[in-house]
Amino acid sequence: MRADQVLLLSGPNLQLLGQRQPEVYGRVTLDEHVTLARDTAARFGLQVEHHQSDHEGRLVELVHAARTGAVAVIVNPGALTHYGWSLHDALATFEGPVIELHLSNPEAREDWRRTSVIAPVATGTIAGLGGLGYRLAVEAVASLLGRS
Ligand code: DQA
Repeated sequence: MRADQVLLLSGPNLQLLGQRQPEVYGRVTLDEHVTLARDTAARFGLQVEHHQSDHEGRLVELVHAARTGAVAVIVNPGALTHYGWSLHDALATFEGPVIELHLSNPEAREDWRRTSVIAPVATGTIAGLGGLGYRLAVEAVASLLGRS
């Protein structure tokens, strides 16, 4: 286990950030959010490994690998938030902090977005703060790991 490794996961469609519904998700690209997460992590001596996938099974495999390869998981599951039960089950097996992260505030949107199947297995959720959430998620992980 690498004591400094944080896994950052991005679910379906998040590679389109910057172009996708900018009025909801903003104009910042996923790469720019990841850079902010990495720069924040460096302040605490942490490293961020990032993966984006449109496929739930791929995200499940990455969580399995994190069980021995990372000390925390930050996940923006995209729409899998609302129905991704295999991602839920994978995260339930992870022993370190799990931060659920959303750019928008799903609670303030359509009814179907108000259910998160990830929240019950997350240590905490950050939502509705746009890109700031990436910095706050890493700061939360650092604090939970006793690094701040
Ligand atoms: C999202 C919110 C989800 O409801 C949506 O399906 C996304 C992005 C967010 O970051 O606000 O793809 O996770």
